[in-house]
Amino acid sequence: MSSSAAPANPKLHSVSGTGRSHWYPYYAGYSPDFVADLISHLQLDSKSTVLDPWNGSGTTTSICSIKGVPSIGFDINPSMVVVSRARLVAAHTSASLEPLLQKILAVSKAMRRPKLASDPLCSWYTLTTARRLRSVESAIRSILVGGDTSSVVDVSNLSSLAAFYYVLLFRVTRRLAGKSTTNPTWIKVNAEDNRVSLTWEQIEFALSVELNDIGFYDDGSTEDGLQASAIVKVGDSRAQSLKDSSVDAVITSPPYCTRIDYAVATRVELAVLNYSNGSDFESLRRSMLGTTLSEAHSGQSEFRVGSFVSTLLEAIKKHPSKASAGYYYLTYNDYFNKLRRSICELGRVIRKGGSATFVVQDSHYKELHVDLALVVEQLFQDCGFRLEMKWDYPVLRSLRQINSGSRSHSGKWLPTESVLILRK
Ligand SMILES: C[S@@+](CC[C@H](N)C(=O)[O-])C[C@H]1O[C@@H](n2cnc3c(N)ncnc32)[C@H](O)[C@@H]1O
Repeated sequence: MSSSAAPANPKLHSVSGTGRSHWYPYYAGYSPDFVADLISHLQLDSKSTVLDPWNGSGTTTSICSIKGVPSIGFDINPSMVVVSRARLVAAHTSASLEPLLQKILAVSKAMRRPKLASDPLCSWYTLTTARRLRSVESAIRSILVGGDTSSVVDVSNLSSLAAFYYVLLFRVTRRLAGKSTTNPTWIKVNAEDNRVSLTWEQIEFALSVELNDIGFYDDGSTEDGLQASAIVKVGDSRAQSLKDSSVDAVITSPPYCTRIDYAVATRVELAVLNYSNGSDFESLRRSMLGTTLSEAHSGQSEFRVGSFVSTLLEAIKKHPSKASAGYYYLTYNDYFNKLRRSICELGRVIRKGGSATFVVQDSHYKELHVDLALVVEQLFQDCGFRLEMKWDYPVLRSLRQINSGSRSHSGKWLPTESVLILRK
């Protein structure tokens, strides 16, 4: 890619298909080609360090690794950390995967586990089936992780091989959990008399089918494709465990302002990890950007007077429509405050002369245009960055349209996805 040519469209055009980027069909993911183009545009190499503070399904860390660029990825959602660690599994392990799956199944079936009265998976499955699926999870842990299998697994230290089997289990539990609603990011909980029951044979068959459907060779990877280290951990974008000025380039896409609840969207996967629907789940939701549950202490606006975001928040607060001054103002204020704190944190960890590449999409609140690209640009300017490049891509099918409840107010308007490069 030449220095001024636009990078590949960041939109991931299809969530189905084979290869690492399709192992876990993440509607929020961006395209591997986009990351590869950015690596070449920014002239990153084996001496650079790339950070993605919202790493999601791990496109940034996976492509950096394939291209020989060391990288670090954080995501606050443990299920996405599992997905991105799995994506780093070495291709030369592929011949061992089927025999290892058979071993996991044999151990699962022989396993004697305390007969718990319930399991997070009971939101979709009968108790007997949930116990079977839990035995598979415990077998993955006893063979590939070790330690105590009664607590929640420490995903930040999971090997990519163990993470790979977790992803197989994610795929099976999601696919067989029952019908989703019209919103494909959301799987409905099943009523008690409608919970899915699976025999051991059905579970074995489903896991084998998923393993067969997984293809290894895409994203430019070869037999020994993964070349650079990638560190992937659970982390909050607002407080990153990194030293000052330790990062050369950030390549990332934050959650958008479209009120898609990422924790709820991965509830099945979190249940596989043994996250109950209780307080842990609630606090995970509250700490995410884009959540519909704002954090209690985020009511105070901390934006520069006269900035686009401060004017927008005032306009939302004064909007005559129902709940604008209450729920909607708090939700937007929460989102922009978390974004501001995350960008400040990036200002701390990016070295002088380093860059931040952000993929963002605009949206509307009623008739008000939420120009997220402008918000990001101004928040970075407040931290001493300048805008170096900006490319716009019209979006033909967006999360806003998927999330049909938010369709009505902006009529025939189509959103724009923007790629911004900001330089410190
Ligand atoms: C748009 S997605 C990133 C997708 C990614 N580029 C990919 O290709 O899969 C944004 C991610 O931010 C994560 N996230 C939300 N709030 C966060 C926070 N406070 N800290 C870190 N990650 C967060 C979500 O879990 C989600 O996976």
